[in-house]
Amino acid sequence: MVPRRFVVRSSRPDTRDTRTLELSPVDGGPLAFDAGQFTMLLAFGVGEVPISISGDPTAPDPLVHTIRAVGPVSRALAGASPGTVLGVRGPFGTGWSVGDGRGGDVVFVAGGIGLAPLRPAIREVCAARADYAHVAVLYGARTPDDLLYADDLQRWAGEHDVEVQVTVDHGQHAWRGRVGVVTELVARARFDGARTLGLVCGPEVMMRYSALALLDRGVRKDRVRLSMERNMQCGVGLCGHCQLREYFVCVDGPVLPYDALEPLISRAEL
Ligand SMILES: Cc1cc2nc3c(=O)[nH]c(=O)nc-3n(C[C@H](O)[C@H](O)[C@H](O)COP(=O)(O)OP(=O)(O)OC[C@H]3O[C@@H](n4cnc5c(N)ncnc54)[C@H](O)[C@@H]3O)c2cc1C
Ligand code: FES
Repeated sequence: MVPRRFVVRSSRPDTRDTRTLELSPVDGGPLAFDAGQFTMLLAFGVGEVPISISGDPTAPDPLVHTIRAVGPVSRALAGASPGTVLGVRGPFGTGWSVGDGRGGDVVFVAGGIGLAPLRPAIREVCAARADYAHVAVLYGARTPDDLLYADDLQRWAGEHDVEVQVTVDHGQHAWRGRVGVVTELVARARFDGARTLGLVCGPEVMMRYSALALLDRGVRKDRVRLSMERNMQCGVGLCGHCQLREYFVCVDGPVLPYDALEPLISRAEL
């Protein structure tokens, strides 16, 4: 429960409201993590929020977080300049367990900032690319200016034989790419549903429709995994803030299989 002190080594702008921070421990070793896990990140004097780890699980120093400034805490974290000390608890929660997809196809479906929690799993697959058959990254954002990790997307496609498809809700400027919702990418991507592991992260409504699109393509319910977001306070299953019916998202999730989530996620009030 006691945060460790990490210092911001670098801060890079990704989009208008999103930055990627690299953090190193002030004392002690790096924070080993599984792809999909999160930390509770503390801006001293402001507050603490859950943020997924977006770096490489095989190289945990620096600790990498991509943060969208939406409110007071995330704004303070995203605005932390090099040299700032932040508090870190964790890592917490379940991972993507992308290794379960070995020998078959893996399809990553991301909406907006949802690419950040998926990035460590994509890197894991790229590092052992020969172990997987077809790999696809299907990514939707609001506008071209909201797209994260342009360099990664190019590298995954160019160097790791990954089918990368990108779409935006609203194309502006000189955008020559696809306009539409990410579920349309699921319908057209080149994978064999019967042997696919599908990992989905983004706004809840986007995840619901993406999961249904994967099922339509023949992916089994227990082979579709979503990363759920809930308000969190303790991160360790004590306070109940993150409760989603019988689940505490901080310990049972954030990554949960669609067959467990189906009765919950299809209810409008959730
Ligand atoms: C497991 C988990 C992993 C997460 N990983 C990341 C991550 O990698 N990067 C990241 O930037 N965020 C991530 N989040 C979301 C992040 O925790 C919230 O954005 C943060 O808690 C907002 O706190 P705040 O005090 O800044 O804003 P608040 O004051 O809590 O919210 C300000 C306003 O923004 C809205 N808001 C809050 N959260 C979101 C959101 N996620 N999307 C859109 N609007 C929102 C609120 O409804 C409110 O209107 C994750 C959340 C969870 C549960
Ligand atoms: S955040 Fe406290 S129980 Fe999950």
